[in-house]
Amino acid sequence: MPQIVVLPHETLCPEGAVFDAATGTTVCDALLAQDIEIEHACEKSCACTTCHVVVREGFDSLNEAEEREEDLLDMAWGLEATSRLSCQAVIGTEDLVVEIPKYTINHARENH
Ligand code: FES
Repeated sequence: MPQIVVLPHETLCPEGAVFDAATGTTVCDALLAQDIEIEHACEKSCACTTCHVVVREGFDSLNEAEEREEDLLDMAWGLEATSRLSCQAVIGTEDLVVEIPKYTINHARENH
């Protein structure tokens, strides 16, 4: 099973995390299964951006993003070239390093 490394996130996982996840699971579900409570405001239906993650390693091993995901990502806080909506990103066979951005669009609206 691929190994997922989650970089430290101030509130969601201050120490970071390392765990194995099954191929075919979404990154969002894999995080939630580890009690890393990433936001998923639209219940994983590709209709918000709160589950945004940046994939630091292993990006190419994920399924390809569909147009709707790309459109939504354009609105995500802290968008990068290897950004994905974690509820749409399906884990392949390679290890991943994932970073959860500091803010979601919800926080960004509140704080800025
Ligand atoms: S949970 Fe809304 S797009 Fe992923």
